[in-house]
Amino acid sequence: MPESTHCIGLLLGTEEDWPTAFETLIDRLGTIGGPGGSRHRIEVQRITIEPFDLRDRPRYELVVDRLAYWYYHPREWLKKVALMDDVYLLNSPFTFQSMEKHAAYCAMIRCGLKVPRTVLVPFKRPPDNARFAYTAAKYNRSFDLDEVAESVGYPLFMKPYDGGQWVGVSRIADSAALHRAYDASGERLMHLQAAIDGYDVFARSLSIGPETMVMRFRPEEPLHNRYAVSHDFLTPQVGDEVVAISRLINAFFRWEFNSCECLVRGDEVFPIDYANACPDIGLTSLHYYFPWAIRTLVRWCLYCVVTGRRPQLDLDTRRYFDVGDDADMPYEDKLAAYRRLADDYFEAERYEEFCAKHLADLDEVVLDWVASDEFDRLLIDTVRGLYPAHEHEAFIAHFRGLVGQWVGEQAVR
Ligand SMILES: Nc1ncnc2c1ncn2[C@@H]1O[C@H](COP(=O)(O)OP(=O)(O)O)[C@@H](O)[C@H]1O
Ligand SMILES: [Mg+2]
Repeated sequence: MPESTHCIGLLLGTEEDWPTAFETLIDRLGTIGGPGGSRHRIEVQRITIEPFDLRDRPRYELVVDRLAYWYYHPREWLKKVALMDDVYLLNSPFTFQSMEKHAAYCAMIRCGLKVPRTVLVPFKRPPDNARFAYTAAKYNRSFDLDEVAESVGYPLFMKPYDGGQWVGVSRIADSAALHRAYDASGERLMHLQAAIDGYDVFARSLSIGPETMVMRFRPEEPLHNRYAVSHDFLTPQVGDEVVAISRLINAFFRWEFNSCECLVRGDEVFPIDYANACPDIGLTSLHYYFPWAIRTLVRWCLYCVVTGRRPQLDLDTRRYFDVGDDADMPYEDKLAAYRRLADDYFEAERYEEFCAKHLADLDEVVLDWVASDEFDRLLIDTVRGLYPAHEHEAFIAHFRGLVGQWVGEQAVR
């Protein structure tokens, strides 16, 4: 059997930690097997930004994108390679640019998820367009912001319809705060969303292809301490529900690599934020969970290139809406049906078989590396790059402790 070479491209911004981890693990893994006794060599390259001819053929079979959400030249390159060259993308800009938070709320409400009541209000400051004055005079209906807010109920959240990273998000308790926040929103389009108050747990899950890690999140803590290392913080039933919701969202939108935030109150799960084109996988935020994230990213990328998984740009909304629109189907049954659709889309079973057969060594490779001095140097460099000098020692010890806990637990296994 001849050996084939596959090139994976990384489109990066400022991050160094996870790309180094990803490159190192693939390098340490070496040549891997595939279906029918085939052999596969994987190259990883960091993509540079330069003029491109629309007819150029890219050398990448798969690209992990962390840049296009704010840098548009590479975004347009991604569109070209998606449309013309069938490059497999985590994530495709076609699925994200038009499907921000607002679109995700809409689709998931129709699917029957418990999205809190959400209202989109018109711009505070109108778009700068010569046609606006005429159009608004003729068609804009004046509205009473207080009335809208009262109907949603206080407290509520005001947040940008396409937001991320908490920018422009405020918790509003009364009319005065409502007007202050709306006045400040300027040209940003805002949602008013009912608050899920008094929730028990904030569950933040990270999904990569057919795998999901549900983590306990503490938004009130500083960045390094937001993910708690906590194993049985959800009942098995609620845990499954969070996983089903995360997978549904990703399969529905063809998102490969995404995070999903759910608030859990009693045994009810309320998804509030789940359109994240560039989910956080930093070493200093995920710490204990970082090895899982990198290993899973390696597994999914290798599965896709070695099996030649075809990217799918078109959505298949009808199959999901047939479930969502069925007024007689209980919520639990809908979730089970979505789970089947999602597992089918992500080829969950075939993926597990592939990993068991061809990536059986990977967990050992990850463990060896995370326990090595090389990893420790990456940890030190990452902390030095992020924190002021007087905090280096404390944070290095902190993250060493958390990663060390992971290593200890794996070694016992
Ligand atoms: N409906 C809500 N109920 C309770 N808390 C909320 C709600 N919406 C947002 N929040 C809080 O505000 C934070 C930021 O809002 P989110 O929708 O996650 O926006 P972003 O995309 O900027 O992360 C959430 O992590 C959560 O702590
Ligand atoms: Mg959020």
